[in-house]
Amino acid sequence: MTPAEHLKKTEKKRMDDLFRFLKFPSVSASSKHKKDMIDCARWLADHLKSIGFKARTFPTGGHPLVYAEYLVDKKLPTVLYYGHYDVQPPEPLELWHTEPFRPEIRKGAIYARGAADDKGQIFAHIKGLEAILKAEKTLPVNVKMLVEGEEEVHSAHLPAWIKKNKKRLAADIVVISDTAQYGKNIPAVTFGLRGIAFVEVFINGPNRDVHSGSYGGAIANPVNVLCGLIGQLHDKNGRVTIPGFYQKIKPMTKWERQQYRKLPYSKQAFLKETGSPELHGEKGYSTFERIWVRPTLDVNGITGGYQGEGAKTIIPEWASAKITMRLVPNQDPMDICNKIERYLKKLAPNSVKLKVVKHGGAKGVVVPTDGPWLEAAARAIKKGFSKEPVFTKEGGSIPIVVDFKEILGLDTLLIGLCQSDDNIHSPNERFAVKDFERGCKMAANLPFELAKARS
Ligand code: BES
Ligand code: MN
Ligand code: MN
Repeated sequence: MTPAEHLKKTEKKRMDDLFRFLKFPSVSASSKHKKDMIDCARWLADHLKSIGFKARTFPTGGHPLVYAEYLVDKKLPTVLYYGHYDVQPPEPLELWHTEPFRPEIRKGAIYARGAADDKGQIFAHIKGLEAILKAEKTLPVNVKMLVEGEEEVHSAHLPAWIKKNKKRLAADIVVISDTAQYGKNIPAVTFGLRGIAFVEVFINGPNRDVHSGSYGGAIANPVNVLCGLIGQLHDKNGRVTIPGFYQKIKPMTKWERQQYRKLPYSKQAFLKETGSPELHGEKGYSTFERIWVRPTLDVNGITGGYQGEGAKTIIPEWASAKITMRLVPNQDPMDICNKIERYLKKLAPNSVKLKVVKHGGAKGVVVPTDGPWLEAAARAIKKGFSKEPVFTKEGGSIPIVVDFKEILGLDTLLIGLCQSDDNIHSPNERFAVKDFERGCKMAANLPFELAKARS
C-alpha cells in the first residue's frame, strides 16, 4: 500500500477525525474557553500519539501548546511543522448558517470555526504524515511538530518557550500551512507576511457623562476628539501621516513586480468577495501591493458614549479605540507604537486627557524564494494539486515566523491550502473538502521531496 492508497482508503475516517478536532470551541481570546483549550490540546496530543508520534502538551503561562516528534535518523533532515489549534471568536453567531462548533459539510465544504484557520490545514499535514507511516512504517525525514494555542492572540508566550526549548526544536526547515492558495486551482507558495502593531487609545473628558445642553460647547467631547484624531491619521492620498511611519521600508524588487503581474486579477471579483462598493487605499499602488507590500493603519473598534436604545443627550466621559497597523519588513512594532503615541499626544487638544496603551506586535517577514527547500515544496504542491504554485505574499500575520528565524535560525515554507474567500475570522468559515484532500496528498509527498532536497 502506498501513502496515496492509504489516503484514498481513509477518506471517511480522516473527515471524522477532523470533525472531532473542530468540535472543540478553542477560542483563545475568551477566558470562558480556558478548559476547552486544555481539552483540545490534550485531544490533539492523544491523536498524534495514536498515529505513532511521541506527543504531549506543555504549559506556556497562557494556553498550552502541543509538541510532537517522530525521529528516525540523525542523518536525515529534520522538518519542524507549525500550526495553531486556537481559533477566532465565532461572534456574531446569528450570521452563521450552522453552528460554528458543529462542523457540517455543505456544497463540498466543511463549515466550522477553525476549518481553514488553522485546524483543517495543520490536520492535513498530520493525516499526510499518518498515511506515510501506515504505508511505510517510517518517515523519510525527522518530524517535529508544534501546534500552539495562542496564535490568534499574538503568540504572547511562544517566543519564551522556543528560547527555552532551542535544542529540542533544532531542525533544518519550518513548514506552515496557515495561509491561502491564490485562487481556485492556483496553489501558492507565500514568501512574505505583514507584521502587526497594536495600540489602544483612551480619551477622557469630564469626570462623568454630563448634560450636553448644559455643558456642550464649553468642554471637549471625547468622542468628537477621538474621531477627529483618527481622521487625521491618513492624508488625502491614503497615506498614514504618523511621522517616520514609512521610514526604512524597502521598495519592491523587479522580480516581485514580475511575479505579481503574472497573477490573474479581477477588480469585480475582488469587490464581490468583500461586498464593498469600491476599492480604497494608498494612491499609486495596486490592490496586491496595498495588501502585501504596503503598511496600513486600521481602527478595529471604537467605543464611547451612549449606545443604548433611543436618544440620550450627553457629553460622554470617555472614548476609546483599538488600532492595528499592518507592518512590512524593517518596521519595528514597538517603534511604530511609540511613533503613533507621540503623534497622537501632539495632535490631542489639552481639553482632554489622552492615554495610549502599547501592546507591541510582530514584525513582517520575507522568506526565501529559491533554493532546494522551496523547490521541494513546489514539487510536493504540484503532486498534491496537479498545478505549479505561484508566488504570493499575504497581508495577514503569523507572528512566530520571525522568531523561527531569529531564535532558531530557520527559514519557513508557507504552503497555503485554503482559499482567500474561505471566511477566516468571519461567520461561516469553511474549508473545501477538495482542498483538504489535495492538502493531505501534498502533505503525504512533502516529506519525500524535502528528504531529496538535502541528499
Ligand atoms: N492564518 C492567519 C494569518 C493569515 C491571514 C494568513 C490572512 C494569510 C491571510 C492567522 O491565524 C491570523 O489571523 N493572524 C493574526 C495575527 C495577529 C492576531 C497577531 C492576524 O493576522 O490578524
Ligand atoms: Mn491562522
Ligand atoms: Mn487567524
